[in-house]
Amino acid sequence: MRIGVPLETRPDETRVAATPETVKKLISQGHQVLIQKDAGVKASQPDAAYEAVGASIVDAAQAFSAEIVLKVRAPEAHELKQIPSGSVLIGMLDPFDQHNIDAMAAQGITAFSLEAAPRTTRAQSMDVLSSQANIAGYKAVLVAANEYQRFMPMLMTAAGTVKAARILILGAGVAGLQAIATAKRLGAVIEASDVRPAAKEQIESLGAKFVDVPYETDEEREIAKGAGGYARPMPEAWMKRQAALVAERAQQADIVITTALIPGRKPPVLLQSDTVARMKPGSVVIDLAAGRGDNGSGNCPLTEADKIVEKNGVKIIGYTNLASMVAADASALYARNLIDFMKLIVNAEAKLLIPADDDIVTACLMCRDGQAVRKN
Ligand code: NAI
Repeated sequence: MRIGVPLETRPDETRVAATPETVKKLISQGHQVLIQKDAGVKASQPDAAYEAVGASIVDAAQAFSAEIVLKVRAPEAHELKQIPSGSVLIGMLDPFDQHNIDAMAAQGITAFSLEAAPRTTRAQSMDVLSSQANIAGYKAVLVAANEYQRFMPMLMTAAGTVKAARILILGAGVAGLQAIATAKRLGAVIEASDVRPAAKEQIESLGAKFVDVPYETDEEREIAKGAGGYARPMPEAWMKRQAALVAERAQQADIVITTALIPGRKPPVLLQSDTVARMKPGSVVIDLAAGRGDNGSGNCPLTEADKIVEKNGVKIIGYTNLASMVAADASALYARNLIDFMKLIVNAEAKLLIPADDDIVTACLMCRDGQAVRKN
């Protein structure tokens, strides 16, 4: 089949949906791969590297006109128009954006959004949320270290002792756990919290202290378990107790990293504005939920999407695409997620064969041959 890989055009998007490694595999499976000129340049993959493994370098129109189009982000209207009816689109297409799903259906294409894959063992190798959140958690710590005007580790020098930075991590899923591991390597002292009971053991196994907001009712205990590997919104009473504890811990912290998300909903507010007002000057907040809350906020109402704002000497960083700041590895892992998914819909003769009974395929299917399949 002809597989097209367009250049990503959204602002600050540096990733690419195929790397020479994955292109080589696709070509060995009998496919023809069309890479748009400069598609991989920002991810340190020049056109020559793709040509060396057998890809053709083409313009945007040719890349979009392939039978299978591999994208990082959902196509914008002018991009979607270039994908022919009957083609297959695979990417991170935002499964909760019904407007986009309907637009893709109207174009007559079949689209798979990999963020919708189930959290099962079989789906792990194609779990784009995990592969990208892992990178975001890592980069969040490095961005924080860069903005923080003190050392991370405890240092004993001839000029005196420097205290280790104290980091509070709220939300210990894939991103939060990687943030803990990264901050640990830099020598910070870490506390972390999550609503899911399983997170306690994971936090402690990475050498961080668990900040416990005890459950007071069976309802709280039940909701906290989440659904399908994801958190559910907690009752207000629990959120209030969490806010009080976070307020206390944040005053002691030098860096707060928030990562809490609830799929399909606005992120929970974990770091209240008055808590930020009481944090130490020079502290840094990194809000990984930036851009998903009201007016571009995230887990903190003061966050502004893709900006660094300063309130009472506290820097609040709202970068919305941290994975893109590690473009080469983010692309490498994402591209592998994509070819693992393609194995489910392309048979050994390199022909499209979409199974009707595969739970991963059906979960990711947004629209098929012009019909919206997913309804939010
Ligand atoms: P996510 O990105 O949707 O959310 C990040 C974290 O925020 C989650 O741990 C969530 O529990 C937490 N959170 C939500 N509301 C909160 C609140 N009010 N206070 C504190 N924390 C809150 O989740 P992510 O990172 O994509 O996955 C979460 C978990 O799912 C993983 O840690 C893992 O246990 C499981 N998972 C399982 C997989 C598998 O079995 N194949 C693959 C990936 C994840």
